[in-house]
Amino acid sequence: MAISASRPEIRTSPSEDGVARRLLDSSARLSYDPLTEVDWETPLDTGYHGASPEWSTLYGTPYWDEMTDAQRKALTRQEAASVASTGIWFEMILQQMVLRDIYAKDPLSDSFQWALTEIADECRHSIMFARGAQKLGAPAYRPRRAAVELGRFFKTVAFGEAAYAAILVAEEVLDVMQRDWMRDERVVPFVRTINNIHVVEESRHMKFARDETRRHLARAGRVRRHIHSLLIAIASYVIVSSMVNRKVYANAGLDEERAIREAKANEHHKSMMRSSCAGLMEFLTSVGLLTKPALFFYQRANLI
Ligand SMILES: [Fe+2]
Ligand SMILES: [Fe+2]
Repeated sequence: MAISASRPEIRTSPSEDGVARRLLDSSARLSYDPLTEVDWETPLDTGYHGASPEWSTLYGTPYWDEMTDAQRKALTRQEAASVASTGIWFEMILQQMVLRDIYAKDPLSDSFQWALTEIADECRHSIMFARGAQKLGAPAYRPRRAAVELGRFFKTVAFGEAAYAAILVAEEVLDVMQRDWMRDERVVPFVRTINNIHVVEESRHMKFARDETRRHLARAGRVRRHIHSLLIAIASYVIVSSMVNRKVYANAGLDEERAIREAKANEHHKSMMRSSCAGLMEFLTSVGLLTKPALFFYQRANLI
């Protein structure tokens, strides 16, 4: 009591701590150590896909029809590795934003301790994704230079709902793909385990991100909400367009130029992205973040 009376400005609200408490309890009941849970020993079986083929950027194109089964599998393995590498990049950004957000907040609060738990999760995830990409026989895929620099800027300045909604977008986009991959028997078993671990632990992160977005927005004025809605949409566009690196095609033994051309025009893949983001767009609408200028970027990213 004496503590809260002497530093009232840093006490967290009861509702904020209610969510964090439940997340901490859930995390104590079910968390994974990828170092021991994932089968790192068995050599890669190239008879498997790396991702559900329907999620390939070339699925449904004339090029896909011409490819052999082995080429398709090689491609989805490179694509899965690229998504994992993009995941690492994003988790680097996210960990720094969360750490900045809780700097000097009350360490005794559940929300502070939950935030550190989330960072610990992401730290394990990034190592898991790195090892997974390596086992898939992929190089280190990095986003294009402009995306890396925009990310550097965003992680340094974004705060409140801008940070948490951008975190949510990245987590949601990964979540829908990974839910399909973890259940798919055509996908190589160790990748299914990786996706399963990520889906379980990220469901808690998404709950926190939604809650934080709502909480921060409740205190934000109209101008701030409009500026942030646009920032979040631009961040989403950069994240989504960085998912699959252009180099995956050549690394899968394909004609890079033709593959990029057909992937860009692939209506099947665009509709997969749109339908998987329906829930996310509903959330953004409900909290007032789907403004007209923001909508432009979500459409360009094929999220709506
Ligand atoms: Fe993660
Ligand atoms: Fe996360």
